[in-house]
Amino acid sequence: MSKLLFRKKEIEELLQNEGTIQLKKTLGAFDLLLLGVGAIVGTGIFILPGTVAATHAGPGIVFSFIIAAIVCAFAGMCYSEFASSVPVTGSAYTYGYIVFGEIVAWLVGWALLLEYGLAVAAVATGWSSYLNSLLAGFHIVLPQAISGAFNPAAGTYINVPAIFIIFATAFLLTLGIKESTRFNSWMVFLKVAVILLFIGVGVFYVKPTNWEPFLPFGISGVFSGAALVFFAYLGFDAVSSAAEEVKNPQRNMPIGIIGSLLICTVLYVAVSMVLTGIVPYHALNVSDPVSYVMQLVHQDWIAGIISLGAVVGMMTVILVMSYGGTRLLYALGRDGLLPKSMAELSPKFKTPVKNTWIFALLVAFCAGFVPLSKLAELVNMGTLVAFTIVSIGVVYLRKNKNIPSGGFKVPFFPVLPILSFLLCLFLISQLSILTWIACGIWFIIGLIVYLAYGRKNSEMNKQ
Ligand code: ALA
Repeated sequence: MSKLLFRKKEIEELLQNEGTIQLKKTLGAFDLLLLGVGAIVGTGIFILPGTVAATHAGPGIVFSFIIAAIVCAFAGMCYSEFASSVPVTGSAYTYGYIVFGEIVAWLVGWALLLEYGLAVAAVATGWSSYLNSLLAGFHIVLPQAISGAFNPAAGTYINVPAIFIIFATAFLLTLGIKESTRFNSWMVFLKVAVILLFIGVGVFYVKPTNWEPFLPFGISGVFSGAALVFFAYLGFDAVSSAAEEVKNPQRNMPIGIIGSLLICTVLYVAVSMVLTGIVPYHALNVSDPVSYVMQLVHQDWIAGIISLGAVVGMMTVILVMSYGGTRLLYALGRDGLLPKSMAELSPKFKTPVKNTWIFALLVAFCAGFVPLSKLAELVNMGTLVAFTIVSIGVVYLRKNKNIPSGGFKVPFFPVLPILSFLLCLFLISQLSILTWIACGIWFIIGLIVYLAYGRKNSEMNKQ
């Protein structure tokens, strides 16, 4: 029985099946930086510095951002070693299959579904807030009832703009739209420009007295804040999944990962300092803090430009994360752990149309009715679970003698992966009890699905 649950995929076999297509090594360090910043900067920076400062960390949110960045940098290194040793689709799910066996792989895949699904929902919710504030600039006001998560006390019942953007993205994905590097670069410059504009203008309105006290919720507030703002860094794994296409990965991968995390950390810290410097931290519990404070200081034009930049910039994150989610469903269907229809491609567009719409439907439901803060916590939980397994997995991966040489290797082995594992566990411990319970339920459902379906229908049964 346990043999069945822990059956593993062999690296040579995977490489034989998929590795026949040799990817061209074209990406340099700068390309990786653009890729990283493009995938990372989204809702997190435009929303979390406000809500998390107000409710968890105060101005000390600056430290929360730094701690979260360090955890991500370590985990990112571990991801990269896997990505360059086992360059096949499926990310952490496939890595789990090789190192720990089927049931762990399934649970990682299940955790990643939570991450991608709810991340899309969360970003769509943030997108909706900034769309509202942008429209307000043109004196267009959506009816209250359809512009927020289910919260009768606040008069909101359903978030229609969030649902709309999810279906619009799903439609694009079914057509097989490829995110071109050029489009991505433009987005990156736009997002960064908007953030710099905010910092450049806002800095003149900072009153240092607003930073006192700096740690109103103490050091524990900083840590729980770190577990929340962790969300703002998600997406950097996109850098590691490009490992096979990178020139001189041993040098360029760390530059790409650490570099994009560093750029984002500097931006996030600066935005947090300015935000908490302009108004007292407890006034920041709003859904569009960055443009909100610009309106407070009567810079309405700047507020409008920021909202526009946020609305456009967040769309790429929704696109990339939806793409990740549908491709994961595809991998699970292909391996027989979910119904085969998940891996069906449309004959016309060569994309998994069916799974894209199912994914969009489930995600739209969450985006329509659940508030952002709850979504973000669950996303972090799913991601951290995957990170812990990837971190400790590197220690086992090194023992495998079939790994092709010449790829990226984690420095300071085995200290760094073990430290990464412990740091992720620490952040998990900082999430709220409600998140633990919700996540526990999710994993129990996952186990039932596996025992009732995946175990019997797994492609591994045929071997
Ligand atoms: N890092 C991404 C964002 O903040 C998920 O939107």
